[in-house]
Amino acid sequence: MKRMKIFAPGTVANLGCGFDVMGLTLDGVGDVLEVGVEPDAEGLSVRNESGVSLPADLEANVVTPALRALLAAYARPVRVEVAILRKIVPGSGIGSSAASSAAAVYGVNELLGRPFSPERLVEFAMQGEALLGGVAHADNVGPALLGGVVLIRGYEPFDIVRLPVPDNFFYAVVHPDIVVSTKEARAVLPREIPLTQAVRQWGNVGGLVAGFALRDVSLIGRSMHDAVVEPYRKGFIPDYDQLKDSVLAQGALAMNIAGSGPSVFALASDYAAAERIVAVMKRHFADRGIGSRTYAGRVSNAGARVVES
Ligand code: HSE
Repeated sequence: MKRMKIFAPGTVANLGCGFDVMGLTLDGVGDVLEVGVEPDAEGLSVRNESGVSLPADLEANVVTPALRALLAAYARPVRVEVAILRKIVPGSGIGSSAASSAAAVYGVNELLGRPFSPERLVEFAMQGEALLGGVAHADNVGPALLGGVVLIRGYEPFDIVRLPVPDNFFYAVVHPDIVVSTKEARAVLPREIPLTQAVRQWGNVGGLVAGFALRDVSLIGRSMHDAVVEPYRKGFIPDYDQLKDSVLAQGALAMNIAGSGPSVFALASDYAAAERIVAVMKRHFADRGIGSRTYAGRVSNAGARVVES
């Protein structure tokens, strides 16, 4: 059996206004999987050696639907073995499930001699997201595979665009010890929104995309507002508005909920500001008796990759 170790990074989905259609790649945090393939054989196994608690049942692991989608499209017998070696804590809001799905399909594609394009791999990997939230969205698996900032222009047909990340661009993320399931965070959202809200939202999405394309960090910051989702989800995060005021006072360009939460992220144009921001975030939750993990680093242009063959 041929084997490879693959790293896939953590990601932040939505970026405020881009619910289900935008995401970016974090540097320095992610999953490592060892992937093995044996052509002309059958079977799929997923072992968890990460030390992080994951469902033992193969059918309950996000990697399974992602790999099944790839294998169905490949349409030749292949045995696949996956060992999850390092794992972002599930439920963190920084693309834990996406990192595993992305690494798994990336590894199998490499070992099979790259029969599929990176965009096609995104379509396979997003089947893992459907297992958790009921909807196959690509705003985490897209950046986890492709790197940088990703816009999903459309799902039917699937149309994904990768945008460059400005060099002077840093993230601060806090993962408080609160449990918010993606399913629950999606259930609170309205099915329909008023036109006035929609107008505000598409103005901001346009501004965000223009900001990345023009490498204009100030425009990115001004556009990262969410008129649709944040008002419903911020109730899951204690004193969210107060946190936002403190984070913006430290020089953040913007702050919002990372994916479906409970993590919160902010963007900054220098690393010192990102470090100040994570300190403020940690204190915010500590003052309320809630522990947290924080991450600060550069927004990355690099997606899934081989770390050892
Ligand atoms: N776009 C998704 C959501 C990301 O906000 O529900 C979470 O997986």
